[in-house]
Parts: sequence; structure tokens; C-alpha cells
Amino acid sequence: MAAFGGATAFAFGSYLLPPGAFGSEAGGEGVRLLLSDVPVGTAKMFRYQGKPSIAVRVNEKTVRALSAVCTHLGCLVKWDGSKQQLICPCHVAAFDVNGNVVGGPAPRPLQSLSVKIVQDEIIIGEA
Ligand code: FES
Repeated sequence: MAAFGGATAFAFGSYLLPPGAFGSEAGGEGVRLLLSDVPVGTAKMFRYQGKPSIAVRVNEKTVRALSAVCTHLGCLVKWDGSKQQLICPCHVAAFDVNGNVVGGPAPRPLQSLSVKIVQDEIIIGEA
């Protein structure tokens, strides 16, 4: 039942995103984003291995990349720059920039993805 709810929530959440909301549609390997596409204090959605994910530019030299799928019932989280948190619109779970739960019903942190910055690129998920 929970899996069905999560799938439904995911489909619904995906429906709410405008076309092109994901910065990259890269497949099985790493994803590369331009640093200039994620200004400090903002976030950008992308797909990692087909899954909705989000990169948050914490400061000039720090980017966090996380699964954007809420660990409660699977809605997609959104970045709230004024709170510096990722908020789930479905039941108001809140996560910090490291994916840790800071409020709401989410039972676990958001899945973290590896990130490195090389010159003007954010490289996510490559060893
Ligand atoms: Fe995110 Fe319920 S699905 S808080």
C-alpha cells in the first residue's frame, strides 16, 4: 500500500514540475551541471540514474546533491531558499542541506549523492 502511495505521489509530483525542470537527463553514469546554473543559495533539479534529484549550492565551494524523493510517501521536495531547507509539499517534511530530517513525518534522511566540483562543473555520482 505504501509503495502504491509513493508511486502515486511520485507521479503526481512529477506532473507538477514544468517541462525542462530537470537540468539533465543523463542515464547511468554521473551527471554534470554548470556551477553557473546553480547560484549560491539556490538549487537545481536533475535526474540521477533516472531518479529525481536536487543539487543545492550551499556556498561558493560547496554543493550538496540529494535524492529529491521524500522518504515519507515519495513526493518531490522543493528548495526553500528563505529557510535554507528542502520542503516536501505533500505533508511538510523538512530536510536540511545534508538531507537530514528537521521536521515533519519523514522517517529517514534524503539519500545523499557524491559531489565534486571541477573547474566550472558540478560532477555528481562519478567516482
Ligand atoms: Fe513528503 Fe509526506 S510525502 S511529507
